[in-house]
Parts: sequence; structure tokens; C-alpha cells
Amino acid sequence: MRELTVTARAPSNIALIKYMGKDDAGANVPANGSLSLTLDSLRTVAEVRVLRGPPVSRWVAELPAAARGLDGARVPPLSEAAAARACRHAERVRAQAPDLLARHGVRARSGLEDVALELRTANTFPAAAGVASSASSFAALTLAASAALAEDLDAFQRAYANRPAFRQELAALSRQGSGSSCRSFDGPWVRWDQDGASALRAGNRMPAMTSLVLLVAQGPKAVASSDAHRLVRTSPLWHGRVERVAARLGLACAALARGDLRELARIAWTEMWEMHSLFHTCAEPFTYWEPASLEALRWFAPHIGAGEAPPIVTMDAGANVHCLVPSADADAWAARLREAFPARGLLEDRQGPGASLVDAR
Ligand code: DP6
Repeated sequence: MRELTVTARAPSNIALIKYMGKDDAGANVPANGSLSLTLDSLRTVAEVRVLRGPPVSRWVAELPAAARGLDGARVPPLSEAAAARACRHAERVRAQAPDLLARHGVRARSGLEDVALELRTANTFPAAAGVASSASSFAALTLAASAALAEDLDAFQRAYANRPAFRQELAALSRQGSGSSCRSFDGPWVRWDQDGASALRAGNRMPAMTSLVLLVAQGPKAVASSDAHRLVRTSPLWHGRVERVAARLGLACAALARGDLRELARIAWTEMWEMHSLFHTCAEPFTYWEPASLEALRWFAPHIGAGEAPPIVTMDAGANVHCLVPSADADAWAARLREAFPARGLLEDRQGPGASLVDAR
């Protein structure tokens, strides 16, 4: 039995059209399609060690070797439940990888039932801060674990680089661990359709984009996004949401294809308010907003419809305010934000190509 350590990295992604509400909670089948920009250095590095031992997975709270020295990399403070969720996902990969790999001409290693999987992860951004850490974590874990279970890593790499369908199937497997992670396998723009099992790169004529996240809160969020997915369906505003989002997604993809930043900024703004209105009006109303979130939204409002390249502003299930701008304008926007919100941190990242393997030893 060959012991092996495989490391993969996957970035976070930020949705403009949101995945919020599930048709099947067990498999993370979304109620509607979504659209996101894949980031680059805000990411998870996941290491999977295949060791001789009973067929179980365990998460170890240590830095992956490849993350030592990586700027800002920290072991996420996973709760017992979160670590158990990561381990369940590794076992899901163990169960599904052989067939998935075989469909793309990659053989799984033999004796999968005689190995233990040890998982180590590090994030380059604060956990549970509204920067989607489950997206990057599950994408990185899926890629590292499935590569570690392949007999021939070169064949795995070749298939990953050259067969879009292989990448999409890995993304669909990852989705079962955390929905939004399926959008972190490709980039820069990714559309995840409600009826499609997987996420696909969306055509665009956009300039290269930079993401600026105004850090309003860095603690764990009050309501887990898995609960939010359940609760939104109890809002009276849920009625018609699926149809509205389908139309909005179509308009957003058309705007992306034309490079129409103004239209995309307006659509993203409306979508963000609609998702948060669902939180504010569900059966057990809650909010992710802090006073400073609202202050930032008020500051951004007059910019949304203005000029040729307005910022695209959105918020996820958290208090931070995300803003996407053309990279050419990023320094100017960052300076304005620092001036307007001197007490707030700013996370800056650019768009990226999605998850990739880092190394194997
Ligand atoms: C608000 O992917 O975290 O970020 O599938 O339960 O893991 P699970 O949910 P998750 O939901 C993300 C919700 C969101 C919007 C989005 O990213 O589209």
C-alpha cells in the first residue's frame, strides 16, 4: 500500500445571483440558478493524506505542509460538527470517486477500503466572515481527495486539465458537500443552473475584475447558511422568487456577455436586497446586517446606477459588503473606501481560474 499526500487549492467565489433555498437539502439541489465570480488568493489549501488504516476520515487541526509560509494562511477553527461534515464529505468522495474517475479514463487505486484519510485545511481569510469559506473548503477537499484516490496522478491531472466534463463532475460531487463549492472549480464567471447537475463557465466580455470586501464583522455568523436556506422558503416574499431569479439570471448572463457593467451592477444590487429581504421577513426573522453594513450600503447606493463602470455591490450570508470593480479602477475604489470607512479592514483579491492541484508526495 502506497502512502500518499495530495494538496489542492480552491478559491472562494462571490455570487451576484444567489443560491438561496434548496429543492433537495440532502443533495444541495438549488431552488434556482446562480452566477458568481471566482476569486484567486482568498482560498483554502486542503491536504489529504492516504494512510494505512481503517477506512475512516479524520480532520487534523494542523497547517497543510504546502500552506506553511503562505501569506495569512490559518487553520480554520472548525467546530466538531464542521469537522465531522468535512469528514463525511471525504467519505462521500471515497464512495463515489472510483466510478467518477473511471468515466474519464482514470483508474482508482486499489484497496480503497484499507486506507484512512487524514484531512488538513488552511484558509487565507477569516472563517465564517461572510467570505464563502465552505465554497473554497469543499472544492479544495473534493479535488485533493479524489486525486489522492486515483492510481495515476498524471492521468488525473491530464483529465482535469483537458476534460471539462471531468471538472464538472468533480464540481457536482463537491456540491453535495456544500452547494456553492461547485462554482469554485472554474472561472472567472460561473453559472450554476438549477436543473443542471453542475456549474459551467459563463461567456463574458468583462474587463478583469477585482473584489474588495469591506470587513464589517469577522466573528462567526449568527445564522448558518444551511438554516438560512431552509428559512427563506417561509417568507411571503418567497412567492415568485424562482421565476424572478430565472429572469434575472438570464438578464445577468446577457449583460455579462455584452460586458455591460452598469446593467450587472443594477441586477446584483436588486438581487442582494431581495435575498436579504427574505431573511428579514421569514417565519423567524433575522438579519446579517450590522449598522456598519447599512452605512456602507447607503454610501454605495448613489454609485450603483452612475457612470460607465459602477461598482457591483453584494452581500452574502454575513455582514460584510462585497464590491467588484474593474481591476484598472481597483486602487481608486480601495482608496475611496479606506477614506470613507477608516475603521474597517478591506480584503482585496482578483478574479481567478478556479481550483487546482498543488502537489503530491
Ligand atoms: C448566501 O453553499 O454555504 O453564499 O449548500 O448548505 O453549504 P450549503 O450552502 P452554501 O450557501 C451559500 C449561500 C450564499 C449565496 C451563494 O453563494 O450563492
